[in-house]
Amino acid sequence: MQTYVRVKPEKLGKINDMIYGHFTEHLGRCIYDGIFNEKSSKSDSRGFRIDIIEAVKKIKCPILRWPGGNFASAYHWQDGIGPVEKRPQLLNYIWGGVESNRFGTDEFIQYCRELGAEPYLAVSLGTGTLDEAIAWLEYCNLDTPTRYAKMRRENGHSEPYRVKYWGIGNEVYGPWQVGHCSAAEYAEKLRQYTQFMKGVDRSIKVIAVGADNPDWDMTVLKHAGHLIDYISIHEYHGSDDYFGTVASVYYCEQRLKLLESLIKHLRLDHVKISFDEWNIWYKISAEREGSEKGTVLIEEPYALKDGLFAAGIFVVMHRMNDTVQMANLAQMVNALGMIKTKGDEIVLTPIYHAFDLFVNHTGRTRLAMDIDTQRYDIKARTFVEGRNSFQLKDVPYIDGSATYDERRSVLSVALINYYQKEADIRLDLSGLEVKKKADRYVLTGSAPDEMNDFDNPDRIHLVSDELATGTGEMNLRLAPMSASVIEFTLE
Ligand code: AHR
Repeated sequence: MQTYVRVKPEKLGKINDMIYGHFTEHLGRCIYDGIFNEKSSKSDSRGFRIDIIEAVKKIKCPILRWPGGNFASAYHWQDGIGPVEKRPQLLNYIWGGVESNRFGTDEFIQYCRELGAEPYLAVSLGTGTLDEAIAWLEYCNLDTPTRYAKMRRENGHSEPYRVKYWGIGNEVYGPWQVGHCSAAEYAEKLRQYTQFMKGVDRSIKVIAVGADNPDWDMTVLKHAGHLIDYISIHEYHGSDDYFGTVASVYYCEQRLKLLESLIKHLRLDHVKISFDEWNIWYKISAEREGSEKGTVLIEEPYALKDGLFAAGIFVVMHRMNDTVQMANLAQMVNALGMIKTKGDEIVLTPIYHAFDLFVNHTGRTRLAMDIDTQRYDIKARTFVEGRNSFQLKDVPYIDGSATYDERRSVLSVALINYYQKEADIRLDLSGLEVKKKADRYVLTGSAPDEMNDFDNPDRIHLVSDELATGTGEMNLRLAPMSASVIEFTLE
């Protein structure tokens, strides 16, 4: 199979760093026994797992969403502040088990500061009220002599946290959600929350709940589009068939494009897409299996194919750089996590390595790229509720993006070979003067289901080599089932 790839020296705008964001929820072992574990020898004095912090810092988490997800809909932030011994133990009736509230707003903000991440808080539209949301905003962002700002200072945090990103609710379109409502009801709540929250702190950015449903999204955008900054979309996929899993990248692309077309149709150019939950989720119906005391764990054993899915999503977000300006992998640790913990050990999954590949080896300026490759049609069965199958035409075997890092004068050509055989590429860099040697970084493995585990934590990792380059056109061979980034230094 021969593929022709042409990179053109034409700049197509900036890629927002925030597309490489993450999400942590009080779900299973994501927070407790995940990022936060006072008993682990790997934790610092605050209970933060240092090995996780180091791994996440390597892939530079720009934004971190918390406390949910579904959990956010029944979360009352005041339960999680003040002296830890006085915080209430409560039922986590969303995901099961006991919520000790040992990790609350102050701990989350410290955690974000440690990572260098912007905090992104989701307010409750389930059991929560507008009063509570405003009080939370005051607690976090204000320096006034008023009750909640004072409470933060009394808790030892004199400087306001200046939390910029606020999500108004989570997935309230779904009957599984506490606070489930109609699009019109949500649109009106959103208008109210946004109006009053921005009235209290006009520097905040608001993320509205999108439903990946044009009727819902239109209603929300028409009613409150002038007030909001982002509209969200969530996508979970995963099939028993390899191509069904990797092709779901293009199902996501279709859905993102549909949402983009609604925004453009309404001429709401200031509204950007926040792809604030995305991942592979295979076993939705079996999620309570193997869990303790009915607590939902959702611990997916991510393999090479899932890393390729993540790489594909990054390429799609590069292509949609104008509109998709924030994204949060769901989730960071253990529950649907790209990092797994067992006792004091951690394992980095292929999804983590896909982040490493794109965060550290691609640029933030998009360049024009044409790809002429073979394509296939697919009908795939996915395990995710509500989307039993999807049908797609013309799915590419090879996809990629070209980016430029202004600081290092590096042109990065990212190429994904979803095909299970080697692929030959004719790469045309005409008009771009590159140095004679390039560095290549590759995520690959010997089988779609190959993965890292606690016995073999490093089976899948990025491998690198040096390539001799030429001017104009050159030949490349891509390994089967691989995501590669070639860094060319410009003369
Ligand atoms: O990420 C797991 C759950 O998936 C989130 O809590 C929810 O928003 C989504 O349905």
